[in-house]
Amino acid sequence: MGRKRKLRKKLHKRGIEDQPALVICVGKRCCPRAESRALVEKAAAYVEKGHLHVPVVTVGCLDVCKKGPIAATYPKIKVRKHVTFKRARKLLEKLERRTS
Ligand code: FES
Repeated sequence: MGRKRKLRKKLHKRGIEDQPALVICVGKRCCPRAESRALVEKAAAYVEKGHLHVPVVTVGCLDVCKKGPIAATYPKIKVRKHVTFKRARKLLEKLERRTS
């Protein structure tokens, strides 16, 4: 099964269909878990503080497994490597524009 199809299936199980979301890998093969967890927390805090409507979703693995932290935009799936908080913020803002 392809990477994108797998991700769609995972999000479908969580009830996320076509609404924009930022998906962040918290698996331990692409980067230290503390690094990806910190990114998730910062991104979620930014969403809450800015009253954005884009959920930050965590998954076990995005099948890239190197150059992490790894994040992907959803539903138009584009996987990004070496995602810093600054990049995550830009992705969230971009996704937010799609919700309105
Ligand atoms: S563990 Fe992060 S992409 Fe596989």
